[in-house]
Amino acid sequence: MSQALTKRFTLNDLRAARRSGHKVAMLTCYDYLNAQLMQEAGVPLLLVGDSAANVILGYPTTLPISLHFLIEITSAVRRGAPNCLLIADMPFGSYQVSPQQGLRNALRMMKLSGCDCIKLEVAQGHAQQVQTLADAGVAVMAHVGLRPQAVGILGGYRYQGRTVDEAEQIVALARQMESAGAAALLLEAVPPEVGRAVVDATGIPVIGCGAGPACHGSVVVSQDLLGMTAHRPRFVPVLADMATPLRTAYGQYADQIVAGAYPAPEHQYEMPREEKEKFVGKSPAGHQ
Ligand code: KIV
Repeated sequence: MSQALTKRFTLNDLRAARRSGHKVAMLTCYDYLNAQLMQEAGVPLLLVGDSAANVILGYPTTLPISLHFLIEITSAVRRGAPNCLLIADMPFGSYQVSPQQGLRNALRMMKLSGCDCIKLEVAQGHAQQVQTLADAGVAVMAHVGLRPQAVGILGGYRYQGRTVDEAEQIVALARQMESAGAAALLLEAVPPEVGRAVVDATGIPVIGCGAGPACHGSVVVSQDLLGMTAHRPRFVPVLADMATPLRTAYGQYADQIVAGAYPAPEHQYEMPREEKEKFVGKSPAGHQ
């Protein structure tokens, strides 16, 4: 059974986990209360993913979400989980223009949100970007494999690394990112053989998101884990059905209001008796 995180989990702890073979759990998180619960549950790594575009804002892709919104919610998660290693996604458009644009926006994210690390979806052309960030002292998690921000060019959300060529390109990209100074890798939606190959070819922690058991840890979108989303990737373990009790509670609340059962006397504030008598007595209608 996991224990509450009472001590800060750092990047060095993540590196040590890689060395010792101790697997680490990572979840996406987008708000203060869930961050508190995740820290209490002992989840050491929290990602404020741009998947907030889907599960918080209801967009069909991650492309529209703004840096400003991600900064706001990342700082909420920081307040809820001061001991977790907090990773913040850099949204589409916040680093693609130039390494300098990426550095400016990453520094903004770090200063305003208090995150420990930023995550970038990377292609070969991003080595300079990662190096610029690393030189500035920014811990970067390089996201390879399926890159949802590249949905336009990928033509959909199909898993990656299906052919030898594709698998070799992913491994080469992971190595390139490590050489550029990435502190960790996130490997999304690839066959387990590709997960194994990336782990073997690199010396930094690899967090899988549907990348098989060789990775040093795993991440899923928490709303998928909680059974709140209608469609979810096949690699997600659905560990709860939170949609049913929530829908039931919302419905009961609406029914109680319609039936006049709520608010009942126990939900009402009390006016001191004398004041009440005077107040009610004053009004022709009797202010009930
Ligand atoms: O944005 C996100 O939640 C992610 C995960 C799917 C890894 O990048």
